[in-house]
Amino acid sequence: MTTSGKSGTIEKLKAHILEQYDIKGDLTPLAGELDLNFKLRSVQGDTFVLKLYAPDRDPQFLDFQTKILSHLETKQFDFQLPRIIKTVEGEPTTLYTDENQQQRSVQLLSWVSGRLWHTVNPATDALRHGLGLVCGQLGTLLQDFDHPFAHREFEWDVAKGLWTKVFLNLFTLEEQSLLKKILNQFEVIQPEYSQLAKTLVHNDANDFNVLVSEDVFNPKLEGLIDFGDAIYTQTVNDLAICCSYAIMGFEDPLEASLPIIKGYHTSFPLEEQALKHLYICIALRLTLSVTKSKINQIEAADNPYLQVSDQAAWKLLHKWIQIDPELAHYRFREACGMSPHPQAHSFVDWALSQEVSLQSLFPTLEKTEVLPLDLSISSLWLGHSEDFNNLDWFDYQLASLQKVHPEKLIAGGYLEARPLYTTATYDKIGNEGPENRCMHLGTDFWVQASTPVHAIYGGEVVVAVQEKGDKKYGGLIILKHHKEGIVFYSLYGHLSAASVNKLTPGGWINQGDRIGEVGCATENGNWSPHLHFQLLLSLLGYTNDFPGVAYVKEKETWQSICPDPNLLFKTEGLKPIEPSVSDQLLADRKKYLGSGMSLQYKEPLYIQRGSGVYLYDHLGRKYLDTVNNVAHVGHEHPRVVKAGQKQMAVLNTNSRYLHDNITTLAEQLKATLPPELSVFHFVNSGSEANELALRMVKAYTGSNEMLVSEVGYHGNTTGCVEISSYKFDGKGGEGAADHVHVFPMPDPFRGKYRGNETGASYAEEVQLLIDQLNRKQKKLGGFIIEPILSCGGQIELPEGFLKKAYASVRKAGGLCISDEVQTGCGRMGKTFWGFQLHEVIPDIITLGKPLGNGHPVAAVVCTKQVASKFANGMEFFNTFGGNPVSCAIASEVLHLVEEEKLQSNALKVGAYLKAELNKLSASFPIMGSIRGQGLFLGIELVTASKQPLETQANYLVNRMKQHGILMSTDGPDHNVIKIKPPLVFSIEDANLLLQTLGRILKEDVMKMI
Ligand SMILES: Cc1ncc(COP(=O)(O)O)c(C=O)c1O
Repeated sequence: MTTSGKSGTIEKLKAHILEQYDIKGDLTPLAGELDLNFKLRSVQGDTFVLKLYAPDRDPQFLDFQTKILSHLETKQFDFQLPRIIKTVEGEPTTLYTDENQQQRSVQLLSWVSGRLWHTVNPATDALRHGLGLVCGQLGTLLQDFDHPFAHREFEWDVAKGLWTKVFLNLFTLEEQSLLKKILNQFEVIQPEYSQLAKTLVHNDANDFNVLVSEDVFNPKLEGLIDFGDAIYTQTVNDLAICCSYAIMGFEDPLEASLPIIKGYHTSFPLEEQALKHLYICIALRLTLSVTKSKINQIEAADNPYLQVSDQAAWKLLHKWIQIDPELAHYRFREACGMSPHPQAHSFVDWALSQEVSLQSLFPTLEKTEVLPLDLSISSLWLGHSEDFNNLDWFDYQLASLQKVHPEKLIAGGYLEARPLYTTATYDKIGNEGPENRCMHLGTDFWVQASTPVHAIYGGEVVVAVQEKGDKKYGGLIILKHHKEGIVFYSLYGHLSAASVNKLTPGGWINQGDRIGEVGCATENGNWSPHLHFQLLLSLLGYTNDFPGVAYVKEKETWQSICPDPNLLFKTEGLKPIEPSVSDQLLADRKKYLGSGMSLQYKEPLYIQRGSGVYLYDHLGRKYLDTVNNVAHVGHEHPRVVKAGQKQMAVLNTNSRYLHDNITTLAEQLKATLPPELSVFHFVNSGSEANELALRMVKAYTGSNEMLVSEVGYHGNTTGCVEISSYKFDGKGGEGAADHVHVFPMPDPFRGKYRGNETGASYAEEVQLLIDQLNRKQKKLGGFIIEPILSCGGQIELPEGFLKKAYASVRKAGGLCISDEVQTGCGRMGKTFWGFQLHEVIPDIITLGKPLGNGHPVAAVVCTKQVASKFANGMEFFNTFGGNPVSCAIASEVLHLVEEEKLQSNALKVGAYLKAELNKLSASFPIMGSIRGQGLFLGIELVTASKQPLETQANYLVNRMKQHGILMSTDGPDHNVIKIKPPLVFSIEDANLLLQTLGRILKEDVMKMI
């Protein structure tokens, strides 16, 4: 019997339902493996599942199904499960004769609402935790239920998974070897595994049987369906199945499994032994899945449902097999709140009973006191990456520090997140974008090369290698120790080549023996000389190496595997200082700072370091910064930093003395400008620049009547807020002052006039305001606008607008100001200044943000005529504006824009990014408009009828942050994603941005239009 196209069959079934259940409704076929399933929608609007069991179904099976569901109906739980709908006669099933005259049992079940798990995107940590909670809860509900059919031989029972061995020959040789590895491992654990606790379990929480609520913002686990595979088996198998499907498609499936395990364990605590075998149970369930698919491909190629997860299962298997089973075990234990390494507590107890002096490690130094060395992300001692990556500098700093504290041993670093590990071996792609290993697992002792190192405990040499390569260990020795029933290892890294050459694995070192000496940079992985000393409770399968730094995310597990060496030394100066943001910091901020100063993101970032296009938080997480146009030539560009440092060391004073820096800067700027703009006044911020420009307008025209754009922003001072519609028309604003006249934002996409041919119409609006002033017999002062409106939402002015508007303003005797605070200094790509895009020459331009690359320096540039009217006898004095340090910094920024060809980079990368965003928008119509110039772009999120989508924009920005990319919204409706990264943004950076955007745009929230 088939379900489709047989209207006769459907009609007959409908009649059967009417007769047996007194329900009239429509039937739609659903997917199923052995039985036929239909969705029944009654005329009253209720929904049910109609199951038409296969004719050859064992009657025991049906009895089992009925009893298990009836058992569950007697229980209390807060999720949905199917309930049996009884016939009018009160029967749980009926008999139905199909068109082949075969008798089939029929069962009607309640409909479990929600979306199938496999359609949900993203399957968040919270959702996976919910899945674990529900599956665990279901496990507890079934603890007091049993049925003879649950004890059948069943091919989907993980415990019986070895049957797949017979079918290995169906696979390629490579696949066979992978599957064999799993089956062999499973065979090895059989004696222990068979002793694990057993219960009756659902056994099939796959992504087609789990339902999630319709709420895409805060999805919750709704329920579970299909008890067809329920079986009496090791309870852990149920969790393994849950994990197997819910972690498919993740870059890091181990990480993805942890919330599920945590949830399951919360509802239904697992035995420690079960966690030991969970890794292999997951692998075996996947083996079952791919083997069944292979058999089905051969036997029932026409039922696609049977191979639904084959590709994803293989992909996961390939990833899973790369994971160290022991590490997985420890991470599972961590998820369940157990000490990740089972021996960790015993080791700590033993270690605390020990007295080990630092002198036993370095007997020749005779030092007992430690001087802690801060190498954390925010460390000012470490300073700029350019410095700390310079060995001579590092050596010099250390030597200087040692000179001041000759009696102390410079050391530290356990659990410290550090910016030092910059080579590719420390990076990986995790579930939320790139991740970097940076948490130090040992203690470093910064002593001179050749300092003798002695073994603090006797032990067997298990590793003695010379690990070559930049930022590696160089000479590495690992000793194995047995103490009071505990096995542990001590790792000595960055030794000399000679130290390891004389040792061979298997050899023995006595306590107190000299095992070697600290290596010099050429032999220790290019570090300043130091000993990296680490304790390990397991080698985790490593034979020639062992990680000395870990991912901060995995801290608890690694901390447990690698206990604090100071447990032995008990030295005050070695106490670990773990990176954290205290709640106090947020509280203090609220206590001391004005509440108008907002923090970005739902969970604020604690940024500690910048470099190029990246910002780093206190845990060393790297964020691609696509929004900080202030860091114009890259965060903390070493040359800008040096320029400021050098000048500050010599002189910083006001501009009343002659100094080269201020004139050099003026000269440099002048070279980028048309000859008309030739007089410079230096100030400290964009707001100050615009404030000064307003004074110039008043001085030149005698009027303060200003024409400003709707949603324009020009700064935070009283004068600037008065000309910023973004502020006075926004939250807390009080509308335009009498002398301020607002023309409609020239937005060709969603503005008053739409399309690219609207320049004249918008310019006409400016003229209308001038006419109004004329009618009131008021004189025009000036007109101010940005060449691309930033706060307006990266709005590109329509062609011809500025030219026409300038002509009207000038005709009325007003001055034209171009606010270049955001758009200047090469960001536009095509031109150095924004106004040059429009073929106009302003009377005044104001500069700010990018000029100092983060240092407060800004400027006003105007014509000679304006300058001479402004200089009416009143001195213009600015305490800080134009000081030698600020000018040195700004000069260096301009040099770098030129030397590093950053304007042409903005043109190249900006054009590439814009083109690729346009391509992306073809698949995601929510991206209504892609606009901007160079590296000053915007993506406006709208519905098909151009309604703004603020919620989606917010969601996108927060999700991008979770994936390590900083973005921000703008525009009056907060629905424009702005992109204005440091100009060193590369094609690779653009690709990372595009890939991540492409991924988040596919998520359910983004489809809500
Ligand atoms: C276009 C524009 N003008 C002026 C300013 C004010 O600059 P500052 O914050 O340096 O005072 C800003 C700041 O965001 C701006 O975007």
